[in-house]
Amino acid sequence: MADVHMGETETFTFQAEINQLLSLIINTFYSNKEIFLRELISNASDALDKIRFESLTDKSKLDSQPELFIRIVPDKVNKTLSIIDSGIGMTKADLVNNLGTIARSGTKEFMEALLAGSDVSMIGQFGVGFYSAYLVADRVVVTTKHNDDERYVWESQAGGSFTVRRDVDGEPLGRGTKVTLYLKEDQLEYLEERRLKELVKKHSEFISYPIYLWTEKTTEKEISDDEDEEIKKEEGGDGVEKVVVSGRIVDSPCCVVTGEYGWTANMERIMKAQALRDNSMSSYMSSKKTMEINPDNGIMEELRKRAEVDKNDKSVKDLVMLLYETALLTSGFSLDEPSTFAARIHRMLRLGLSIDENVSGGDGDDADMPPLEEEGNEESMMEEVD
Ligand SMILES: Nc1ncnc2c1ncn2[C@@H]1O[C@H](COP(=O)(O)OP(=O)(O)O)[C@@H](O)[C@H]1O
Ligand SMILES: [Mg+2]
Repeated sequence: MADVHMGETETFTFQAEINQLLSLIINTFYSNKEIFLRELISNASDALDKIRFESLTDKSKLDSQPELFIRIVPDKVNKTLSIIDSGIGMTKADLVNNLGTIARSGTKEFMEALLAGSDVSMIGQFGVGFYSAYLVADRVVVTTKHNDDERYVWESQAGGSFTVRRDVDGEPLGRGTKVTLYLKEDQLEYLEERRLKELVKKHSEFISYPIYLWTEKTTEKEISDDEDEEIKKEEGGDGVEKVVVSGRIVDSPCCVVTGEYGWTANMERIMKAQALRDNSMSSYMSSKKTMEINPDNGIMEELRKRAEVDKNDKSVKDLVMLLYETALLTSGFSLDEPSTFAARIHRMLRLGLSIDENVSGGDGDDADMPPLEEEGNEESMMEEVD
């Protein structure tokens, strides 16, 4: 890499393979350009995970910006789209290393995959998702502030090089990163509120931080809020902070997401595996979950009807718990009591097979939660479910 000092601005050459990748992204026609937003939101979410993780041992790391969020700001006048996060940010060294001079092994692999006919949407899996910004932009500016460094600006129009300079006169950032895309003339659809909303719902459904969209009326809205309507928390569904009706689930009856300050599924798994974890923190952080319900799903519709008929219907309660636990699993969480879950499944199996509960000993008492066969190894089996 060659550094050219031009006053405060330093110019760096992209590492050769990254440069090739950029040429490929810019010069090849891909129809699936929209995935750029998912990649940038996923980077924002990763950066938020990192600062949240650091704040667990040192709360003061959040002082520079206590709120954890992602903001999407389209600017029709300047034809720019900005994705802003209050995540960990990047130091100057991070900027230079992560965005241009140090190639991941995935860079070459991804190019090979592309040439072999893979879809460009695979980019994230190769660890080079950031560069998908050039699917829709011909110029990208990254402004970032890390707790340990000053505010810096990275900028590139591809073409072999990028620049990094200290940001002395820009607007303050507190902490985090702002990625501004100067959209290509034929990509202005990504300034439209409806298109952006659609993309966030389609590709970034399980992001566990609020995603705000700057709208024309110059008010910010949390995406999905307008379709969500809070409903009563009937079933004491344990560990759920709130239950909402969601407009963003397409097929499944429900899903579980973590709130702003709760752990993500992945983080929860990591923390549960920590031998020396602080239990009080663990239960606090684990408890902030939101169960989102898809009102159009047939299962939900039927359950609602039955609950209307009899609010205390035990089998409805059982089914709701089963739904919740299944949603936990499919959303990437592990279960606190896998054997209870197993017992519910067994009960459903019995029903499905029309086996009388009372005949086959041990299983079919009266309570909401049936007594269970104790199987010591079930826990470890469930832990591996992703
Ligand atoms: N919003 C951001 N905040 C902090 N760091 C970021 C951000 N976006 C990108 N980065 C840095 O750039 C790196 C490259 O991003 P990317 O190409 O998407 O690969 P990956 O996300 O798989 O690591 C990230 O690992 C991270 O270090
Ligand atoms: Mg990424």
